[in-house]
Amino acid sequence: MKFTGEVVELIKKYIISNVSKNPNTLTQQTCDYFQITKPTVLKYINELVKENIIEKQGSNRYPNYQLVKTEYEWEYSNKNLEEDILWSKDVAPLLGELNSNVKEVCQYGFTEMVNNVIDHSEAEKLIVEMIVDYLHIELRVIDNGIGIFRKIKNVLGLEYSKHSILELAKGKFTSDPENHSGEGIFFTSRVFDAFMIKSHKLTFFGLGNKDGIIWEEKDDFPGTGVLMKIKKNSPIRLINIFNEYADPDKDPSFHKTLIPVKLMEHEGESLLSRSQAKRLISRFDKFLEVGLDFDGVKQIGQAFADQIFRVFKNKHPNVRLRIINTTKDVANMIKRVQ
Ligand SMILES: Nc1ncnc2c1ncn2[C@@H]1O[C@H](COP(=O)(O)OP(=O)(O)O)[C@@H](O)[C@H]1O
Ligand SMILES: [Mg+2]
Repeated sequence: MKFTGEVVELIKKYIISNVSKNPNTLTQQTCDYFQITKPTVLKYINELVKENIIEKQGSNRYPNYQLVKTEYEWEYSNKNLEEDILWSKDVAPLLGELNSNVKEVCQYGFTEMVNNVIDHSEAEKLIVEMIVDYLHIELRVIDNGIGIFRKIKNVLGLEYSKHSILELAKGKFTSDPENHSGEGIFFTSRVFDAFMIKSHKLTFFGLGNKDGIIWEEKDDFPGTGVLMKIKKNSPIRLINIFNEYADPDKDPSFHKTLIPVKLMEHEGESLLSRSQAKRLISRFDKFLEVGLDFDGVKQIGQAFADQIFRVFKNKHPNVRLRIINTTKDVANMIKRVQ
C-alpha cells in the first residue's frame, strides 16, 4: 500500500517522538499503532536513519534505536570572560534554525549560568557542553569553583548545604546584593523543561513550579554543574514567566514567589517546629506575595503553622501569603492558628 505524504509524515513523527521511550520495541509498537506491516515500518525507520535523525545500535535481531545526538564542548579559562560573547560567538551559531522563543530561553539560561560562574564561582575553569538532537537542546554549564550550595550555606550561615536549595527556590537570594538581584536561577529553572544542579555530593532536580528532588551521592562533584534542557517545540515564552511573578500592568518588578513546601520535607522530616517555619519564612519580606504550594505535604504541626500564619503575618502585614494544594488537615491547622 502507498501512503500519502501526510500519512508518511505522521508515521515518521510518531517514530521520532517514541524512539527514546521505546528503543527496543519501536518497530513493533509502530506496527501496532498504525496497523501496518513490519517491512513498511522498517522502510521509514531506515529513511530516518539515512536522514541522520535516528540511529541504530544493538544487533539486527535486537535493534536499539536512539535519536542521533550531536555533542559540542568548550573549555575556557575563567579570566576576562563575557557571557554574551561566548553565546554569540561559540554557541548560537551551532543552534541552527530554532523557534525564536526557544532560542531566547536558551540564550537567557546560558548567559545567566555563565555569568554566575564568572561572578560567583571563584573557579579557574568553565566548561560548556551542548547536546542537540532532533527534538531537544541541552546545555550544561560546569565550573570547578567553590560550589553553589556551599557558597550559599556560608553566606547565610546555614546548618546544611541542602538548605541552600530552599533559598534558590524562593528567589531573590544573592551573595552580592550590590551587583546582583537573585533572579537568574529562579527564572532559568522555571523556563526550561528540565533543570538540574549538581555540586559536591548534592544533586537537585526540579526547582521551578514543579516538585523538586534532592539526592546525595557518594562521589564528590567539585564545583558546580548546571543542566538545562528544553524541547525545540516548547511553547514557553520568557516574558510570560516573568509576568507570572509580577503584575505586568501595575508593577512589572519581580515581587511574587511560589515555593514548593515539600522541598523542606526531604528525608521524611515532618514539618512541626518553629525553627523549620523560620527557615521557610526567612526573606519572605522581600516579596509582596508569597505562594506556598503544599502539594505532597500531608500535615503540618501547630507550632510550624503558628509561626508562619500568625506570628509572621502580624509582623509583616504587607506580605500576602497565598496557599495552594492543601490537604484538609493542613488547611484546618492553618485556620486554627489564624
Ligand atoms: N556557579 C556558581 N558557583 C558558586 N555560587 C553560585 C554559582 N551560581 C550561583 N551561585 C550562588 O547562587 C546565588 C544565586 O544565583 P542567581 O540566581 O543567578 O542570582 P545572582 O547571580 O543575581 O546572585 C548567587 O548569588 C551565588 O551566591
Ligand atoms: Mg546570576
